[in-house]
Amino acid sequence: MRQKKLKYVNLEMLNTLGVITDLEKIETKKPVYLEIGSGKGQFITSLAASYPSNHYIALEVNMNVCYRIVEKKVDQKLDHLTIILGDANHVLDYFFEHSIQGIYLNFSDPWPKAKHHKRRLTFPKFLRMYQMLLEKDGFLQFRTDHKDFFDESLIDLETYFDTIEINRNLEVSNHMTEYEEKKRPFGPIYQWTGKVKEHVE
Ligand SMILES: C[S@@+](CC[C@H](N)C(=O)[O-])C[C@H]1O[C@@H](n2cnc3c(N)ncnc32)[C@H](O)[C@@H]1O
Repeated sequence: MRQKKLKYVNLEMLNTLGVITDLEKIETKKPVYLEIGSGKGQFITSLAASYPSNHYIALEVNMNVCYRIVEKKVDQKLDHLTIILGDANHVLDYFFEHSIQGIYLNFSDPWPKAKHHKRRLTFPKFLRMYQMLLEKDGFLQFRTDHKDFFDESLIDLETYFDTIEINRNLEVSNHMTEYEEKKRPFGPIYQWTGKVKEHVE
């Protein structure tokens, strides 16, 4: 989705509002849950509002979209939500190894052309990073409306993770993303959930 450029949003402003804009490690004593490519943040803010004993982290590369998450965080007073303006390619720079309980990929860009598959957030390069970051009993959850993206990603997901559940018609929930609400009228929503394979160090 192309975002309308907000003229007043800049790096310094986001920094002042508490958004992490430099590569730095995040430390918290609470269980950590990360969403990569959070968009405007409806999913992660709804989780944070429901589960205050966890710490939620939104990683989003687009500055304008990031600001929309900040607005929700401020409105709902979600102190246990950290927002990072950053790229998934650098995700290892923000966290200590095995420090994350759950990672969510919601409606990530499907990059349908084969020559672009390496940009998918489900590409093996990324899956190996998630393995390094997740706790031993941690999980990865991937949700999309794009059937081919889902089916093609399953092959790699099942190489690196043990499947907990595959759902090819996800029911409506209290924790839906902006994209999900838009796409639901046009077809099923697919979701895969897996845990770190036991033999992985
Ligand atoms: C299709 S949108 C989905 C947004 C949201 N998850 C939802 O379901 O409504 C994909 C989002 O991922 C972000 N994104 C794409 N590549 C990214 C990357 N490498 N690192 C962080 N965010 C990324 C985009 O800026 C965009 O906001």
